[in-house]
Amino acid sequence: MDLKHILSTQQFLNRKTLQDIFKIADGFEKADQKDKVPKLLQNKILSCVFYEPSTRTRFSFESAMLKLGGQVISTESAGHFSSAIKGETLEDSIRIISGYSDAIVLRHPEADAAKRAAKVSSVPIVNAGDGTGEHPTQALLDFYTIQKEIGRIDDFKIGLVGDLLYGRTIHSLIYLISLATNVEVFLVSPKELRLPEKYKSFLKTRGIKFSESSNLENILPKVDVLYMTRVQKERFSSQRLYERVKNSFVLNKKSLNKLNKHGVIMHPLPRVNEISKEVDSDNRAVYFRQARNGLYIRMALLNLLFTKSKNLPSKQ
Ligand code: NCD
Repeated sequence: MDLKHILSTQQFLNRKTLQDIFKIADGFEKADQKDKVPKLLQNKILSCVFYEPSTRTRFSFESAMLKLGGQVISTESAGHFSSAIKGETLEDSIRIISGYSDAIVLRHPEADAAKRAAKVSSVPIVNAGDGTGEHPTQALLDFYTIQKEIGRIDDFKIGLVGDLLYGRTIHSLIYLISLATNVEVFLVSPKELRLPEKYKSFLKTRGIKFSESSNLENILPKVDVLYMTRVQKERFSSQRLYERVKNSFVLNKKSLNKLNKHGVIMHPLPRVNEISKEVDSDNRAVYFRQARNGLYIRMALLNLLFTKSKNLPSKQ
């Protein structure tokens, strides 16, 4: 079946599919370096509808679309500047916007928003973050970054650190990690921000070895990939709790001495305090390259959605 929408990384639990996407992304990077990106999406219009703030996701999707010769229309504060402020439902807004464009990239604070949008949209919906749910395109670029930086997507140890409860990039990445063989996952969070049960039972079902703790130092010498995340301030109902946990884990110069010398440091960004600036110049810090990879992964995904959707499996 065709890939109609991109809603969850559960749609991508197929190694061949992932490798195809990564190859296309590699190709677009090479073409871009030579200023020779084929204008494959001429006459297509992408709508970027963002009800929550974004820098990387929206700019990289827009840039990806423009590089491929397409056009972009967008609203970066849809909750205020679209008819939502007048009381229009998400469903009605999507029905209307899907009549004006060929695909919609949607970011919304509610966890089922992308699925709801897909039900009423006449064009593909790309989930660019649905509240505390998922952020599939981020996880695809994260997994791509792992392959590029450590040279493999098997036989590695990964630390997922920070806000595992609300962090949607973590949720999407967990599904992709399950594709790897001989992988071990260290879940590190304050006890209030542990990974929700449903992701842990998923890991169990897939036979992935994992452990939970609140200790960053212990895992530093062990991991090949250290994936840091921001504590998601906007999801807390108690600001007091946020204040208590916000600086639970800070990676600084001292931690670098303990980190495995081949271990790469990733972060979906934005960072707040969890990675000190002094870490940026370490050659294991790959988060800025990771963000750049988002451009090429999104070019590949747009290309697949518009032109080669038949090669991809649909949501399981
Ligand atoms: C993430 C998000 O929006 O979930 N940002 C991103 O897209 N790179 C991570 C975050 O906001 O902490």
